[in-house]
Amino acid sequence: MTSTLINDCFLRACRREPTPHTPVWLMRQAGRYLPEYRATRDKAGSFMGLATNADFATEVTLQPLDRYPLDAAILFSDILTVPDAMGLGLSFATGEGPKFEKVLRDEASIQALQVPDLNRLRYVFDAVTSIRRALHGRVPLIGFSGSPWTLACYMVEGGGSDDYRHVKTLMYSRPDLMHRILDINAQAVAAYLNAQIDAGAQAVMLFDSWGGVLADGAFQRFSLDYTRKVTALLKRQHDGQSIPVIVFTKGGGQWLEEIADSGADVVGLDWTTDIAKARQRVGSRVALQGNLDPFVLMAPPEVVAREAAAVVDRFGPPQRPDGTWDGHIFNLGHGISLHTPPESVTALVDAVHQRSAQLRKP
Ligand code: CP3
Repeated sequence: MTSTLINDCFLRACRREPTPHTPVWLMRQAGRYLPEYRATRDKAGSFMGLATNADFATEVTLQPLDRYPLDAAILFSDILTVPDAMGLGLSFATGEGPKFEKVLRDEASIQALQVPDLNRLRYVFDAVTSIRRALHGRVPLIGFSGSPWTLACYMVEGGGSDDYRHVKTLMYSRPDLMHRILDINAQAVAAYLNAQIDAGAQAVMLFDSWGGVLADGAFQRFSLDYTRKVTALLKRQHDGQSIPVIVFTKGGGQWLEEIADSGADVVGLDWTTDIAKARQRVGSRVALQGNLDPFVLMAPPEVVAREAAAVVDRFGPPQRPDGTWDGHIFNLGHGISLHTPPESVTALVDAVHQRSAQLRKP
């Protein structure tokens, strides 16, 4: 597959190379806030109907790019495909979150857990290849996975949770069993991401969505150590190109330095962290991604534009006084809400591109 890109701004920022503007993409950029997504989902019948069909997955991945001048595409899939391939039986009931048929709470089912046969995830790799072909080098394609800890939360809880009671009970009372789940998840996630890279993913992102619910100390032992295991196993080169790794821990602001040392090239920030201070804290170790509060998008377009420009200004000019560059990839601090008016995203992307280009003028 050819790796010539028309717009490589996103990859350049990940590598802390000069860029003409700050690249922007949005977590969950393909989704229910877009009427064209809802139409394709109706055709497919369900979320898994979309995700398991390469043509549908390609169509919805490209929808936000056809509407907005975004600088990266993200594979249309879900983090829960991996536990599904482990045999836990994923379903998405309308109006409710994800549900697993089986939960992992007793010793026997945890001992029986295994790294899944990657053939059961072939539909994901087929989607990656199909999306790469359809992109024709417009922008790079990001692959992704849940972190070992975040996947374990769903596997033990059996779905979403408010208090993480079951997974924390297991973690504190049977840490040996928790470590077994996390170890298998780390191997599975690394193999899954490497297969996405082989299929054409040009960067990969680990979503540690629930790392921030852990106590200091527990975070390092049960989340970060396994993130590190994954990054150590990842292919960093493919087709003569380096493959940047993004690690996003929601609620991880207090651990930024440690996350920056986890083998990540880019650290994702949620909206609670000051991106200027974050830049000082990580120095030139990693690029930063983030971090507008997704609910700013509920305000009128002029407010969206002002708040987005404020994040660009807060990061500041990416070039340092010594001439080297830091990297900023603009994103939201978490996934876009399904209640977002689509026009808000136009205002956001334009403001980021304009303000960041201005900021680079001497
Ligand atoms: O960013 C993108 O556009 C790519 C697609 C993507 C989806 N899920 C599609 C999706 C990505 C990157 C994810 C990641 C994901 N999935 C995470 C990590 C990011 C985060 O938000 O913290 C998590 C925790 C999940 C688990 C998950 N999947 C939940 C909790 C839900 C239900 C809640 C919801 O938002 O609907 C899903 C379903 C899901 N995944 C949808 C989409 C577009 C909505 C399904 C639908 O069409 O009904």
